[in-house]
Parts: sequence; structure tokens; C-alpha cells
Amino acid sequence: MCPNLKRMARVFSGIQPSGELHLGNLLGALVNWVDHQKSHDAVYCIVDLHALTLPKNPEELRKNSLELAQLLIAVGINPEESILFMQSHVPEHSQLAWLMECTVSFGELNRMTAFKDKSGRNEFISGGLFTYPALQAADILLYDTDLVPVGDDQRQHIEITRDIAERFNSRFGDTFVVPKHVIPPAGARIMDLQHPERKMSKSELSPAGTINVLETPESITKKIKRAVTDSDGDVRFDVEEKPGVSNLLSILAAATSSTPEKVASSYSRYGDLKSDTADAVIALLRPIQEKFRELESDPAETSRLLTLGSSKAREISSATLGRAMQNIGLLET
Ligand code: TRP
Repeated sequence: MCPNLKRMARVFSGIQPSGELHLGNLLGALVNWVDHQKSHDAVYCIVDLHALTLPKNPEELRKNSLELAQLLIAVGINPEESILFMQSHVPEHSQLAWLMECTVSFGELNRMTAFKDKSGRNEFISGGLFTYPALQAADILLYDTDLVPVGDDQRQHIEITRDIAERFNSRFGDTFVVPKHVIPPAGARIMDLQHPERKMSKSELSPAGTINVLETPESITKKIKRAVTDSDGDVRFDVEEKPGVSNLLSILAAATSSTPEKVASSYSRYGDLKSDTADAVIALLRPIQEKFRELESDPAETSRLLTLGSSKAREISSATLGRAMQNIGLLET
């Protein structure tokens, strides 16, 4: 069969507007998002409604949402070819979420480890934090999604989405495509520069250990120069014994499309490894920062692209929601 006649598999993924993007997000996840666009029909959603599950300052949420949209475009998500949109701009997400809440059981939601983690760490536990997976299931199922590329920490959320889809289909007839979880293969695991045994995370939690996508070259160089290594002086990729050096090798490899082992063989001194890693990161981020500044100076263009995204998203999601409402027995308008 001519491969062009086959529908391209659809990928769907979501990201919260939680403030800033760091090198770990970029090299671990977003490079895969960009890559998927070549061989898949890609749908990417900024999940601002999910962000509301924990208390947020309205001005910050608005700023972070806009900034994230611009960053995603700057790293290479193409809103003309793929679909990129804000979750809150597509009302079908909230509407299908209610049907999902009524399909999932209290017991299933109660077993989610992400809920246990987050509710343990926060004073105010919203109802939305508990039903978070129902909204996530709606996100995914609205687009007849085949593949969901997300990290291993999302495994339970994808499994519950599959369970909900299967249950709905068996109770009410074929309605949803049952999606599969794909753990991105090429995703580099980027660790904190000061605490290389833990993942790089938001910079307010670890300012010296995190490199922001919008960070200046001077600051990048300073942080990489100060990155924790070890005292044996040998450049080799060994995550257990040499977490700091291995992290630098992972960063340099990911930034130059190589592998840590290959990169390691060209170095004998930590100083050289550090200065080349800093240069590679600066070179990787420069075009992203330039594109971001360009979008930042033209808010009307960002808003045009997001409107395009939500209108393309609604074409698909409204059909799926209609099917679900019909099959579950709601009276047509
Ligand atoms: N829960 C995801 C996270 O925290 C974000 C998310 C929301 C998502 N809806 C999604 C991811 C749908 C993939 C598909 O990373």
C-alpha cells in the first residue's frame, strides 16, 4: 500500500504553564515534540486548566501561559503545520472532562500517586487536583490520539486514560481511540548542576543548578564552570560513580546530537569539557532566544497563531465530544 494513503499516527502531549522552561525540559521532552512533527500528526496543548489545580496568581498565570506559547514556537513547534493551542480556548476539554469524571471511579482516582505527592505538599487541596486525571483523559481522547509521548512519571495517568476509554467504549459503544504511552527514547536525562543525583528542576528551587532556556550566555558559562564534578580527574560516562561529569557529558552530547560515550573520548580535562559544554549550550539556545524575542515584540502574531491552533483543535474535538454526548445518552440540542 502506498504509505501516503495511511493516516499518520497522531501524537498528543500537554505541558503546564508553570513558569519557565529549563534545559532539562528542552532536551528531555521538547526536542522530541519537535521531532514528532516530522513523522506524525502532532497536537500540543498548553494545559492552563490543569495549572489551576494548585493556587495560582492570575497575572503570573497569564504571563506564563503567553511566554510558554512563545517558547514552544521558538524551540520549533510549528503552529501552521501542527496544532498548538491553549486548553482553556477549547471548551470541549472541560465539557468532556465531566463525562470522564462520571466514568472513572473514586477508587481509581484515589490510587494516583501524583495526587498523593501533590496533596501532601500543599495546604489547599482542590477538588480539581483530585479529578486532574479525568481532565487529562479528556485532553487525550478528544483528538483520537494514538500516542502520548510523556515521561515515566505520567505512566499512571496514561493507564487511567486507557481504562476510561475502554470502559466508555464497552458501556456506550465505540467512541474513543485507546491511546498508547510512548516514553521518548531519545530524551536525555538532564540533572541539576549542583546536585547531579536529582533531575534539573525549576530555577527558584535550585538557581545555581538549573539553566533556563532564556538565560544569558554569561550566566550559562558561570553555572557550568561551577558545576559539581569529582576529584578523580577522569572524563568518562559513568552515572553511578561520576554523576556530575556524566551530566555534563549528557548535556554536551544532547546539545550537539552526539552520545555521551562518544563525547567523553575527546576530553581528558574537566576544564575543557566545561567550556565546550557551555559553548554548546549557548549555541543551542541562541536561535531559540532570538526567535522568542521576535515573538515577544509582536503579541498580535502570537495571538493569531493561538487562534489558529484553537480553531483547528475545535474542529476535531467538537466532533469527538458530540459522539461521546450522543453515545452516553444526552439529548441533542
Ligand atoms: N499531567 C501532565 C504533566 O504534568 C500534563 C498534561 C495534561 C498532559 N494533559 C495532558 C500530558 C495530556 C500529556 C497528555 O506533565
